Amino acid sequence: MNETKYLNNIKKYYDDSQLIYRVFWMNKENLAMHFGYWEDDTKNRHEALINENKHVAKELDIKKGDQILDAGCGVGGTAIWMAENFGVNVTGITIVEKQVRLANKYAKSRGVTNHVKFELKDFTDTGYPDASFDKIFAIESVCHALDKDAFIREAYRILKPGGKLCVCDYFVNEIRDDADKHYYDAFCEGWFMPDLPEKNVFEKLLKKNNFGNIKFNDNTKKALKSSTIMKKMSSKWLIVDKTLNFLHLATDDNVKGTEASIAQYNFFKNGVGYHGSFIAEKPIK
Ligand SMILES: C[S@@+](CC[C@H](N)C(=O)[O-])C[C@H]1O[C@@H](n2cnc3c(N)ncnc32)[C@H](O)[C@@H]1O
Repeated sequence: MNETKYLNNIKKYYDDSQLIYRVFWMNKENLAMHFGYWEDDTKNRHEALINENKHVAKELDIKKGDQILDAGCGVGGTAIWMAENFGVNVTGITIVEKQVRLANKYAKSRGVTNHVKFELKDFTDTGYPDASFDKIFAIESVCHALDKDAFIREAYRILKPGGKLCVCDYFVNEIRDDADKHYYDAFCEGWFMPDLPEKNVFEKLLKKNNFGNIKFNDNTKKALKSSTIMKKMSSKWLIVDKTLNFLHLATDDNVKGTEASIAQYNFFKNGVGYHGSFIAEKPIK
């Protein structure tokens, strides 16, 4: 599929599903469009969603004054949280206009516009000058990239020497049989992810692009409770979605999106893939 068409599909997907995320998943405070991580003492989904931010902040060792890029920022939840909690400066980018508008509106209402801004940009071709950022993170966004190598190359270019990258995302482990393939395909197709990288392949791409100090965390177990909640909610919603689809009030893509929100559970639970994070450093030379 050509790239422009592919990007347009992603934009449409998020335009169509933003309300679903708002009503069923995030809240006004976390504004999070990610799975979330459950620790032993995590009490609810809000805390789990914030925990994924905390994981990224810790792995990147973020410090007051850092210039940070949030690559694939959704409606700005993580960027705003980082500015509020660490006094860092965050630029969030997304290819979805509606998300830029909402994220800037939320930043204004939270009083952090002196630390946070959001722009309409593709993370494979940002146009930022070389060595613009101390830290870059991407939470559940690189899964959408047609060319993962292009994302890593661009991240390397715009990171300062000694800067760090954190990619918190879904990775393939092993597709052993038709059932695994079914879950993988349904997950990718419904959420407009062209493919998911194998962990080892992603690591090779990081090395090929000169990143060093590469580390991977398997966070699948921490994401499983959110995965289960999502599956249960989506299984109920699927009946509504199919009825709306029959009445021409929901599209085939809406139904596939809901089916993906069910398939993701077996993808993680059966070990077809990981929810994990790569951390890598641009060497000082
Ligand atoms: C599942 S959402 C995650 C949003 C956010 N990171 C969060 O955790 O709330 C994926 C995001 O990736 C963005 N995205 C997908 N492809 C992109 C690209 N090529 N360049 C920039 N953003 C992209 C989408 O627009 C969306 O904002």
